[in-house]
Amino acid sequence: MKVLVTGGAGFIGSHTVVELLNDGREVIIVDNFVNSKPVVLDRVRKITGKDFKFYQVDLLDRDSLEKVFAENEVDAVIHFAGLKAVGESVEQPLRYYHNNLTGTLILCEVMAKYGVKNIVFSSSATVYGKPKCVPIKEDFPLSTTNPYGETKLEIERILKDVTIADKDWSVSILRYFNPIGAHSSGLIGEDPKGIPNNLLPYVAQVASGKLECLSIYGNDYETRDGTGVRDFIHVVDLAKAHLKALDRTVAVKGIDYYNIGTGNGYSVLEIVKAYEEATGKKVKYKFAPRRAGDIGECYADPTKAEKLLGWKAEKDIYQMCKDAAHWQELNPNGYED
Ligand SMILES: NC(=O)c1ccc[n+]([C@@H]2O[C@H](COP(=O)([O-])OP(=O)(O)OC[C@H]3O[C@@H](n4cnc5c(N)ncnc54)[C@H](O)[C@@H]3O)[C@@H](O)[C@H]2O)c1
Repeated sequence: MKVLVTGGAGFIGSHTVVELLNDGREVIIVDNFVNSKPVVLDRVRKITGKDFKFYQVDLLDRDSLEKVFAENEVDAVIHFAGLKAVGESVEQPLRYYHNNLTGTLILCEVMAKYGVKNIVFSSSATVYGKPKCVPIKEDFPLSTTNPYGETKLEIERILKDVTIADKDWSVSILRYFNPIGAHSSGLIGEDPKGIPNNLLPYVAQVASGKLECLSIYGNDYETRDGTGVRDFIHVVDLAKAHLKALDRTVAVKGIDYYNIGTGNGYSVLEIVKAYEEATGKKVKYKFAPRRAGDIGECYADPTKAEKLLGWKAEKDIYQMCKDAAHWQELNPNGYED
């Protein structure tokens, strides 16, 4: 099977490409490196001992994207490419809407033109807004609180309309919870620009001495220890879910939605403790006021993915912390080194 992976040089994309190649699938990556580095591609080749085609193309560049489809007989697309920083999306809404929405529209138009109608899309638990309760099921009401989340929800709606209009389309929407960790080789991992937005890279950089202290936003939530609870999932488990989703997408037409999480909620303090236990390093932290828009608890009911895709997360929180620490140790400045 020939799989075109948009955003394949990114954090989740690169881990998914590794799993695809290890599984014997043919891969074509499209990425413009707006949030990734070319060296990732060499690392993926090193891990797998396998090669793939790469195109440095922006999804907004229709002509170049068409060339990719003209040169390759693509069977299915896994669509990761998008901008993903919530705070930045509030500051630069037009850039986010244009990149994520227009990029996806162009991608789908080109796919339709070349008769490629199978797509797995990276959505997010952010589309559940403030859930009425946990664990979250796929049929919960949807809402968003920022432009990034709005782009995810809008793309879900666009893809649904596409499947209604043309019964040949087949779409799997994967709603990721909180991907963390890194490949066990330590060769690929999360490489945030500047100060990390996400918890684990921040924890890792505090533990390694690169950052001073972790601010934990809110210790007065109605949770076990007052800090926010999230469903952290190992990025390799998440990557594997894409292979299962891909097979079902090709086999079953129409659209379906899947929560991709572990089903377990861990608090920020529990993550800090797990990181300390897994690595033997101290993580200095202080409490800060809640952040506007943050919710107390968010974790998945992942049973639909288990039933329909035959996928279940396997790696525990210690493995996630160990692998994140290994990546941080080998790459203190991310891919810069
Ligand atoms: N990491 C998370 O916590 C998380 C959670 C839920 C959903 N997601 C979604 O999963 C997807 C992958 O996330 P990630 O963490 O790997 O992000 P990432 O930024 O590491 O990867 C995205 C990749 O897409 C590329 N890209 C962006 N716009 C492009 C364009 N117009 N043309 C070509 N390439 C483009 C970037 O250069 C980057 O390599 C994103 O769509 C993101 O919104 C991520």
